[in-house]
Amino acid sequence: MRPILVTLLALGICQCSPVANKPTPLVMWHGMGDYGTSYFSMGHIKRLVKKNVPDIYVKSVVVGANFMEDIVHGFIGNVNNQVEQICQEIAADPELQDGYHAVGFSQGAQFLRAVAERCPTPAMKNLISIGGQHQGVFGLPNCDPGNLICEEIRRILDLEAYAEWVQDEIVQAQYWHDPLHEEVHRNKSRFIALINNDQTLMEEQRENLKKLENFVMVKFLNDTMVVPNESSWFGFYRPGQDVEVLPLRETDLYIEDRLGLKEMDEAGKLVFLGVLGNHLDFTDDWFVQEIVEKYIKDSV
Ligand SMILES: *[C@@H]1O[C@H](CO)[C@@H](O)[C@H](O)[C@H]1NC(C)=O
Ligand SMILES: *[C@@H]1O[C@H](CO)[C@@H](O)[C@H](O)[C@H]1NC(C)=O
Ligand SMILES: *[C@@H]1O[C@H](CO)[C@@H](O)[C@H](O)[C@H]1NC(C)=O
Repeated sequence: MRPILVTLLALGICQCSPVANKPTPLVMWHGMGDYGTSYFSMGHIKRLVKKNVPDIYVKSVVVGANFMEDIVHGFIGNVNNQVEQICQEIAADPELQDGYHAVGFSQGAQFLRAVAERCPTPAMKNLISIGGQHQGVFGLPNCDPGNLICEEIRRILDLEAYAEWVQDEIVQAQYWHDPLHEEVHRNKSRFIALINNDQTLMEEQRENLKKLENFVMVKFLNDTMVVPNESSWFGFYRPGQDVEVLPLRETDLYIEDRLGLKEMDEAGKLVFLGVLGNHLDFTDDWFVQEIVEKYIKDSV
């Protein structure tokens, strides 16, 4: 009796993880000013994940051909094309064919959401947004002193964020969101208004986003980079002014469920996490306990 039981149990366990012993892989997209092959930032996260999930395959996104292009493309370029490049790489990567989890840092978070909405194959399972800006930003506050590209971009955004050439070439303009001119935003934004179904309701984007198992959004409670900080939880200014902030559940986007977020919320797929500290200021322990253990490591 006993050996049969053990065999049955063993078979049962095998069916839980069909790709024998191969953990669900991970795709990461870095933030502005950073690059995918950095030894310190993305490299550190990769080592941290691998330490806790041995044998996991981790792809750290590199936009363009090399690390210099990757840094520059964090400021300059067309985000739709960047997303398309990464979609193609994911589709062509044999390690990712059975699905993957995704972690996006800062602007990398909304770029990975675009991947989830536009490129459903292979499947993104959990999307983890670390200090993302899902409703865009209205302001680009702290540039590192001496970062001339950043200073110049701030100047351009203040003057003409919705000019056609700016929307085509300046990355931060493509998730700029002016709540004082919502209609201009809807008409002219070439990225964030599109992936949020603010311009036209693209049913496919909605259906694809809903396929996520979990959409985890981390907001830094002392974030002075993301304006308004609620954008990390998909909230934004009440239209027409830039003082009062609406949480996601009170926005039209949610109430009308144009992106499937309400349905996902009701299914328990939206996770809102708060972290004390400024933008991307988290500890290794927090990342391992709250992100790796809960949303990256396969449960047995
Ligand atoms: C936005 O686009 C619509 C439809 O083309 C147009 O009627 C409206 O005037 C535009 N509004 C602004 C503020 O550009
Ligand atoms: C976060 O946003 C709220 C609402 O706009 C604001 O009152 C608060 O000061 C912001 N927090 C930080 C740390 O900037
Ligand atoms: C967060 O901001 C509050 C109020 O601005 C401040 O009292 C607190 O020390 C800050 N905490 C951290 C971890 O930065």
